[in-house]
This record gives sequence, C-alpha cells and structure tokens, in this order.
Amino acid sequence: MLEVRELSKEFGGVRAVQRVNFVVRDGQIKAMIGPNGAGKTTIFNVITGVVPPSRGLVRFNGQPLTRLKPYAIAALGIGRTFQTVQLFGEMTVLENVMLGRHLRSRAGLLASALRTASMRREEAAIRERSLEILERVSLKDKAGHVASSLPYGEQRLTEIARALAMEPVLLLLDEPAAGLNRAEKARLGGLLRRLRDRGITIFLVDHHMDLVMEISDEVLVLNYGEKIAEGAPGEVQRHAEVVAAYLGAEE
Ligand SMILES: Nc1ncnc2c1ncn2[C@@H]1O[C@H](COP(=O)(O)OP(=O)(O)O)[C@@H](O)[C@H]1O
Ligand SMILES: [Mg+2]
Repeated sequence: MLEVRELSKEFGGVRAVQRVNFVVRDGQIKAMIGPNGAGKTTIFNVITGVVPPSRGLVRFNGQPLTRLKPYAIAALGIGRTFQTVQLFGEMTVLENVMLGRHLRSRAGLLASALRTASMRREEAAIRERSLEILERVSLKDKAGHVASSLPYGEQRLTEIARALAMEPVLLLLDEPAAGLNRAEKARLGGLLRRLRDRGITIFLVDHHMDLVMEISDEVLVLNYGEKIAEGAPGEVQRHAEVVAAYLGAEE
C-alpha cells in the first residue's frame, strides 16, 4: 500500500532521514520505533506532504506522493494524527470530528457556512457519520463536551476520531499512547486492532514497547535517520543493535 524508497531528508546540516526503505502492506499494523530525533516524525511529514523529501520516493498504491499537497494526499485516503494534541480546544468533541469530515465533503467548510438546503442536508449527514465514528472510539457520550475539558487520553482519542472522519484507508499515528495511563493504553490497543480488522491499515510511531510489540504485525527501527532493523516484533526485540540503541537506553 505504501512504499518508501531511498528516502532522505536534510534540514540544513541535519541528516534527519538517510536512505530509508520500507513498505507498509495492506491490512497491517506496522510500528516505527527509535530514540528521539531518529527521524520518525520527519518520515510522517514527508509521507503526508508537510515537508518535501531531499531525495527518494513515496508511493501510495503505486502513485507517487512526493509532489502532492497535504490535502491531496489526505483525499487519497491517508489520515494522520500529530505528536502533540492538535484539537480546537474551545469546540466540542463532535465539532472537532465534524471538521475532519468537512475536509472530505463535497461542499467544504466555506460552502457549508452558506447553509443552503442541500448544505443543511449534507451537514446533517456529516453530524450523523461523526457520531457513528465517536461511537466506534467509545466517545459518543462526550460528543457535546468542550474538547479541552476532556482528560488527555480522551483528547487523543478525539484526534483519532477526527482522522477517521476522513475515511482513511491508511492511518498514521504519531505517538498515540504518549501520556496515556495503563488502562487508556489497553483501550487504544484494542481500538487499533478493531480498526485494522475493519480494513484500515495502521502505521504508528510509539515509545511504549508493550503496546508496540503486542499489536504490531511488523516493526521498523530507526536510529540517527537510518533503518537499523525491521521484522516481526519478536525478531526485532532480539536484535542486538536495537537493544543497544533503544530498548537498553530506556532501562
Ligand atoms: N522542520 C524541521 N526543521 C529543522 N530540523 C528539523 C525539522 N523537523 C525535524 N528536524 C530535525 O530532524 C531530526 C529528526 O527529528 P524528528 O523526525 O522529529 O525525530 P523523531 O520524531 O524520531 O523524534 C532532529 O534532529 C530534528 O531536530
Ligand atoms: Mg517525533
């Protein structure tokens, strides 16, 4: 589904990503791990068109993405969440999710502000669908709450709901478990598995080895911008270099 070939990205003198190759297969949960500064978020930013690569190629179902704008890439079915919470704090949970939906609707935000009859019908459909998505992430009862009033874990779930509102086939999640407690992490793991089982391919970055090793079909390890290991969770866990570069450093 996603193919990254010989991808490099430099910021001035910083070699953030160096000749990285990997694929994400349809129906997988794939994880990318590595210490801070390894280049994980940069890879997400290149895939989603936020920054251009210095060299290399990204293809999505065979189509090159590297010249497309972020909205065009999102429209192809790649959704994402960010490393830090990016909600509209004063808006309700439902409104935040509806925004994600508006981004893919025919009318768009400006047109729906004009509120013709057909726009009102579309608005109602967006509301309906957004509530279904909130139900899927077990947040429907919080739909009317102001986003910033939610506990942190539920704000993160709201962001996943907003990304889902764009009906992605590939979902990129940048540290979705950061700041979550044990129960929230378990709930997130269950949700990601359910999404995968419903046909959404997931590519996530996270530092929580328990979560990553439990839910991932495949794990990719980056260190200083380079891929140092890739394989099934058990294989990667045993990889000496990985242990030295990352797992060991965490102990
Ligand atoms: N927009 C940017 N401008 C300059 N340097 C950046 C930018 N984004 C990332 N970097 C640098 O690239 C390297 C990789 O960062 P990042 O991709 O955020 O790592 P990770 O997500 O693995 O922690 C770091 O040295 C970081 O400072
Ligand atoms: Mg990062």
